Amino acid sequence: MKIILTGFMGSGKSTIAERLSNMLDIKNIEMDDLVLVKSERKSINEIFEKDGEECFRKLEAKVAAELSNREDVIVATGGGVGTNQDLLKVLGGVSIYLEVDFEEIEKRLKNDQNRPLFKDIKEAEKLYKERKLLYKKNADHIISTNGKSVDEIVQEIIKKLFFMCEGGRCGGCSGCH
Ligand code: S3P
Repeated sequence: MKIILTGFMGSGKSTIAERLSNMLDIKNIEMDDLVLVKSERKSINEIFEKDGEECFRKLEAKVAAELSNREDVIVATGGGVGTNQDLLKVLGGVSIYLEVDFEEIEKRLKNDQNRPLFKDIKEAEKLYKERKLLYKKNADHIISTNGKSVDEIVQEIIKKLFFMCEGGRCGGCSGCH
C-alpha cells in the first residue's frame, strides 16, 4: 500500500504520516527531505533563496519520479505536490488531502521561519485560496481535520482506506457519509 498525504503547509502531513507509519508499520518518507538531499543546500529556504522556486519544483519532480516504483510507503508531500495532478500520477498510490481552515494554519505557522512561501500571511492566504480546490479535485480522499486530534484523523484515514463499503450498505463506514 502506498499512501500519499497532501495538503497546504501546516496541514499536519508530516505528523499524520509519522503516526500512520507507526500504526501500520509502513515506512514514512518526507518528500522535502529527499529534495534537500538532492539540492545539497542546508534548508528549503536556502533552495528558494539561492536557486529559486523553479529549481525547487524540478527537484520535487525528480523525487516524485524516484518514488514512483516504491510500494508500501507513506509519503508526506510538500504543500505544492497536491496541486499538481501530473506529479500525483507519477507518485501513484492513494492520495489523501488533509483539509484544514486557514485560521488554523495561521495559528500553527505564524512564527515559522522555515517555509519560504509562508513569510507573508496575506500572500500565504492568497495561495491557500488558489490551491484549495485543486487539492480537493486531485485527491482520492478528503479528510476534514478541523478541530480533530491526530488520533481521530488517523482513525478516519484508516477507516477510509480499509473499511470502505460499496454504496453505503454497511451503514457505518466513513466512506458513506
Ligand atoms: C511548499 C510547501 C513546503 C515545501 C516548500 C513549498 C508549498 O512543504 O515543500 O516550502 O509549495 O506549499 P510543507 O507543506 O511541508 O510546509
